[in-house]
Amino acid sequence: MDFHIRDIDQAVGGRHRMDWAAQEMPVLASVHEEFSNDKPLAGLRLGACMHVTTETANLMKALQSGGADIVICASNPLSTQDDVAASLVAHNEIPVYAIKGEDDETYYNHLNAVLDHKPHIIMDDGADLVSTLHKERPHQLADMIGGTEETTTGVIRLKAMAADGALKFPVIAANDALTKHLFDNRYGTGQSTMDGIIRATNYLIAGKTVVVAGYGWCSRGIAMRAAGLGGSVIVTEIDPLKALEAVMDGFRVMPMAQAAPIGDIFVTATGDINVIDKHHFETMKGGALVCNSGHFNVEINIPSLAEMAVEHARVRPFVDQYTMKDGRKINILGEGRLINLAAAEGHPASVMDMSFSGQALAAKYLIDNRETLENKVYVVPQEVDQRIASYKLNAMGINIDVLTDQQTEYLNSWQHGT
Ligand code: ADE
Repeated sequence: MDFHIRDIDQAVGGRHRMDWAAQEMPVLASVHEEFSNDKPLAGLRLGACMHVTTETANLMKALQSGGADIVICASNPLSTQDDVAASLVAHNEIPVYAIKGEDDETYYNHLNAVLDHKPHIIMDDGADLVSTLHKERPHQLADMIGGTEETTTGVIRLKAMAADGALKFPVIAANDALTKHLFDNRYGTGQSTMDGIIRATNYLIAGKTVVVAGYGWCSRGIAMRAAGLGGSVIVTEIDPLKALEAVMDGFRVMPMAQAAPIGDIFVTATGDINVIDKHHFETMKGGALVCNSGHFNVEINIPSLAEMAVEHARVRPFVDQYTMKDGRKINILGEGRLINLAAAEGHPASVMDMSFSGQALAAKYLIDNRETLENKVYVVPQEVDQRIASYKLNAMGINIDVLTDQQTEYLNSWQHGT
């Protein structure tokens, strides 16, 4: 079996951590069991480009139990957990192409290694695999049944492809399931981003001014958790509705240029480029921490900071310190890549339980509906969302009310009024 990982000897540690995460993934366990019985993916090759974490490993095992022939590469050069990569190879016979800290060339070689397996289904996180397949291997498109996409950034890219008429197979936007973005993007990103900042720096958040760029689901979670740790939160936005929501949630809202000289900690999660730019660095306080939790490492203009700096040193793992001419030191965490996966372990298993159950069921949906789906981006069917939420509540031991016949009748009637 071909693979490219850091060190196969780390496999046992990886398996322990995968099993640890599995304890918090009861919904995925039920999907795993169902897949083992029904084999919905029998005979199909599935190529995944995802963060190689304990949670993803449990998803891969569930898909494999459904009969799929799996191969996986990293969806980010800094997010791989090398022990997990080793365990997937050694214990599950899944070819893995992922090494934490790989350079850009290796990253794309790994994507191509997955495409060499000629997948029928792609499970993507950020749309790099789908985009590489369309751009560089159009001859392989005929083999494809479809894809699923994990993250907001990827869904935006795929919708742009569909609008251009460039998308050549159906994709299910796993990200857009309510059981994904309302929980994973908000509570997962919120907690794991603060975890990444704290592990990288060991800073106290209480008393710090935390500037959060964006107020989408991820940023909402970050702002909420930064405030919960005692930070004084400023939100920057370009969308008036989201900005208004941030104000009414109790945060200060202002342009980044105004926030730059005030902030102690900056976190971007907008999905856009150069949200923190040269003119912002020019006014930042010495000692500022700057990091990103959006999918790509484009939100902070690090090249401009590097040009401005007279000195650069890695002062701790995941902390690059740039010294300005006037002596101010600005700290970039995790090379501007997803700080929650670079310096911490990504979202906790309990929340990935729902996201990855959605992924597995989205793959099954693609297969069940392969004859009718068009080359578009689809939302996850509502019944999948409802099923995941019910299973999760059940696993948490929480019961909810059921509509009485009278209540159902009332909701379905337009005749009742005052
Ligand atoms: N994205 C964010 N957190 C993750 C995790 N723990 N595993 C896989 N993908 C993730």
